[in-house]
Amino acid sequence: MEPFSPLGWSPADLADPYPIYRRYREADPVHRAGPGTWFVFDHEHVAQTLSRRDFGRNRPAHLPGRNDALYRSVRDWLVFLDPPRHTRLRRLLAAEFSPKVVAGLRPRIASIVASLLRPLWGREEFDLVREFAAPLPVLVISALLGVPGERHAWFRERAEWLQEASSARAARASGGLARASGGLARAETAAGELTEYFDEQVRARRAAPRDDLVSLLAAAPGLTGDEITATCVHLLTAGHETTTNLLGKSVLHLSARPDLARTLRQEPALVPSAVGELVRFDAPVQMITRWATEAQELGDRKIAAGDKVVLVLGSANRDPARFTAPDRIVVDRDTSRHCGFGMGIHYCLGAQLARAEAELALPPLLELLRGFGVSGARYAEDLVFHGPAALTLRAIGTA
Ligand code: HEM
Repeated sequence: MEPFSPLGWSPADLADPYPIYRRYREADPVHRAGPGTWFVFDHEHVAQTLSRRDFGRNRPAHLPGRNDALYRSVRDWLVFLDPPRHTRLRRLLAAEFSPKVVAGLRPRIASIVASLLRPLWGREEFDLVREFAAPLPVLVISALLGVPGERHAWFRERAEWLQEASSARAARASGGLARASGGLARAETAAGELTEYFDEQVRARRAAPRDDLVSLLAAAPGLTGDEITATCVHLLTAGHETTTNLLGKSVLHLSARPDLARTLRQEPALVPSAVGELVRFDAPVQMITRWATEAQELGDRKIAAGDKVVLVLGSANRDPARFTAPDRIVVDRDTSRHCGFGMGIHYCLGAQLARAEAELALPPLLELLRGFGVSGARYAEDLVFHGPAALTLRAIGTA
């Protein structure tokens, strides 16, 4: 098969990569795309890689000699750490993202949802991503961290710039989407500005602690100042574009399936499992990366130490060996083995929070779809963080 690369994909393929994934999953599930670079398309080998310790997350040698703000921040991000540092930081943060903490946040999330959606009813046409799907996660994580919500547009822009870095790197590695250009420079600026901002917040909380996550991190024993700041920056960005994409894609899919929208309006108890199914069906994070820490086998392929292994979560979630009729949305299916939130030790820390946001947003969004129809969608040119960059809704009955 020709080496997998999204270079030159049409907008239609970027919006719906699943037929292309299927070809690779069927013919060459552990696929060598170039020297030292692999893409894994099937559920079995994606799950296996995520449970093995000989595939790591961190690759210090990856950025030799770097000391810029972006590198100094991401090197301390939970998602890029291996045990034992990962274990220590994860344990500390897990308590703050527990089901109990998230349950306590639900009224706050519901009120943010309502306040963002209310003004939209009076409009003839609007971009749902800009007005709702993008601000919601930033406002929620700002509330949790304890930083002022008015900054949300500033945070959002910087979170987007930072996320462009990982997309840009992945894009370059797989042939280079247009987004690679300029992305790293903007990410560098964002890392510098956010680090400065959170350094200041941490200093303020040390002087006068409050009841928020920044105060908790500032007081945590054993964390360095750099780790605290990097964790704040990481949390701000990790839950941002991911949740935005889940919300945008959910609206797109439900507007195309009025029968499903109707079912969920009539049976709101199905909303939580529908959210899981939407993450499975069209994963907001399509790909994650691991590095082989030693020479090993994956299926019948020989992976060399240091090789890069890209796990195509979006493809694994559509694997018919794991899910019956994987290309159909089945709102009450058992999605417990989907890997849209990852698997293993790096399983998404914010999965409960993201689910709560989507569960609280879906019912009012389904109401909105009674008065508005999707009149346009433009996908971001990105196969890592995957979803519509713009989603135009127009009042039904207006030209
Ligand atoms: C990790 C997806 C929302 C924080 C991950 C991973 C995935 C993922 C696939 C695993 C990365 C890997 O193993 O390389 C998603 C999706 C979301 C979402 C699809 C929304 C629909 C959130 C939210 C937060 C968050 C709201 C928090 C504010 C994190 C963190 C990690 C992570 C901190 C790293 C965990 C670790 O390394 O132990 N997420 N995420 N995510 N996510 Fe999420």
